[in-house]
Amino acid sequence: MKEIEKIKDISKIYFFDISSLSSLIEIQKKRLSKYSLYKSKKSIKLKTRKKLPIIQNRKTVRNFRKISMKKDIFFDIIINSFCKRFLNSKITKPYSLPKKTYPAAGGLNMLDFIIYVNNISGIGKGYYLLDPYEKKLIKLDLNLSLKKIFKFTENVNLENSCFTVLFISDLKAGIIKYGPRAYRYCLIEAGHAAQNLLLCSSYFKFSGVCLGAFEQIGEKSKNFKPIEYGVAIGK
Ligand SMILES: Cc1cc2nc3c(=O)[nH]c(=O)nc-3n(C[C@H](O)[C@H](O)[C@H](O)COP(=O)(O)O)c2cc1C
Repeated sequence: MKEIEKIKDISKIYFFDISSLSSLIEIQKKRLSKYSLYKSKKSIKLKTRKKLPIIQNRKTVRNFRKISMKKDIFFDIIINSFCKRFLNSKITKPYSLPKKTYPAAGGLNMLDFIIYVNNISGIGKGYYLLDPYEKKLIKLDLNLSLKKIFKFTENVNLENSCFTVLFISDLKAGIIKYGPRAYRYCLIEAGHAAQNLLLCSSYFKFSGVCLGAFEQIGEKSKNFKPIEYGVAIGK
């Protein structure tokens, strides 16, 4: 509680103020002392022989440069991040089982992906629904302003981003199997899928910003399911 009191202006802790950020990091480091009861003097220093560029070079970009992404790279990123591959094995015969490129509880499908294309060469601006089975983008007649959805993120300028993925939840199948825990699993699933997107983009030397602050626009429409997460990609 004392530590919280130290932070006088709560609004400052949101990503910007370096001094308050460093005090927060100190709080996080001190967390390790909680384990003092169990700590021995032994420790193992970690070393790596291979720093992976797609991990080491990743960082958040909030002000995108006006650069358009080639269509082929966009397809590579979307297919590798979200689309299914089909498994034909002795066990699954005569069926070919769709496998995701990210793990999901019970192998169920609790996420849909709506992609706002902004700056991809050869693809018109607008919203598209991803069919991850057929590997298709279906044009949507959605009159949503991305600016309005992410109106709380004043520190982010999506104007020059290449595309933004909206992660939409649909818990029907999950609730039958898991009850209320389905929502928790759906969010974990969204984290895995978003990480695929960030790392695939990083592979092609693009970056992104994760967006957790948004308005549930479109929720009045019965056909529109809740947005759980957004990730914008660009340079
Ligand atoms: C769940 C989640 C929600 C986030 N929401 C926002 C957001 O609404 N606005 C924003 O500017 N950054 C948001 N971020 C990005 C973080 O601020 C960013 O990852 C953090 O500052 C660390 O920077 P780095 O990614 O370059 O290491 C979010 C990140 C996560 C994981």
